[in-house]
Amino acid sequence: MDLKESLQQEEFVVKCECGISLMNAKLQIINADLGIRFGRKVIHSMSSRIKSYESIAAKLRRKGLAEDMESVGEYINDVVGIRAVCTYTDDLYQIAELLCAQKDMNLLKEKDYIKKPKKSGYRSLHLIFQVPISLQEEVRWIKIEVQLRTAAMDYWAGLDYQLQYKKENREAKNIGRELKEYANAIQQIDSKVLELRKWIEAI
Ligand code: GTP
Ligand code: MG
Repeated sequence: MDLKESLQQEEFVVKCECGISLMNAKLQIINADLGIRFGRKVIHSMSSRIKSYESIAAKLRRKGLAEDMESVGEYINDVVGIRAVCTYTDDLYQIAELLCAQKDMNLLKEKDYIKKPKKSGYRSLHLIFQVPISLQEEVRWIKIEVQLRTAAMDYWAGLDYQLQYKKENREAKNIGRELKEYANAIQQIDSKVLELRKWIEAI
């Protein structure tokens, strides 16, 4: 069976969908909990996706890996991806902390592109979890990438994705420089907005 067929297998797809349901439920519970604690809405939107065969194959090729399920399981951490968007940067860390405290899944990797933005200007907090899914009396582990970002970071990432990310363009360098400036402006807005909220809370 080739990679495309393996990724389309019902068992694999169901495992991924269960991973999404489980992580969505966890995030919704955390959202409700923090909502009570803080008296305001914490997560503004959530989305999820299963990475397409084309993207998986392209990533394996880019990394020089064999195009098979072993490589996918071992090296592709974002076959299942969930994104939660908040208004304030500190909420992202609250959510991350509560996710990491969950006893029924393990944190495999944390990439803090907020403290250390990517060269492009990209900012977000990425957490890779390993989650057990019980299917047909067997426990199957699945990796899930959770991306936590503010609405401003999400706006920038969307813009960058649309205009530049992973695209070849002879003006790429200049466009990249321009986008990097916007990323800096957005970072400043994020920290001002957080200060403003804290100021208002202290009144
Ligand atoms: P990908 O092959 O892009 O998935 O990268 P990776 O698995 O090596 O990990 P990385 O942490 O660099 O990126 C993971 C994900 O973060 C990507 O799939 C994008 O969703 C997002 N991302 C990372 N860098 C950028 C960026 O410069 N611009 C945008 N728009 N998104 C980014
Ligand atoms: Mg990715």
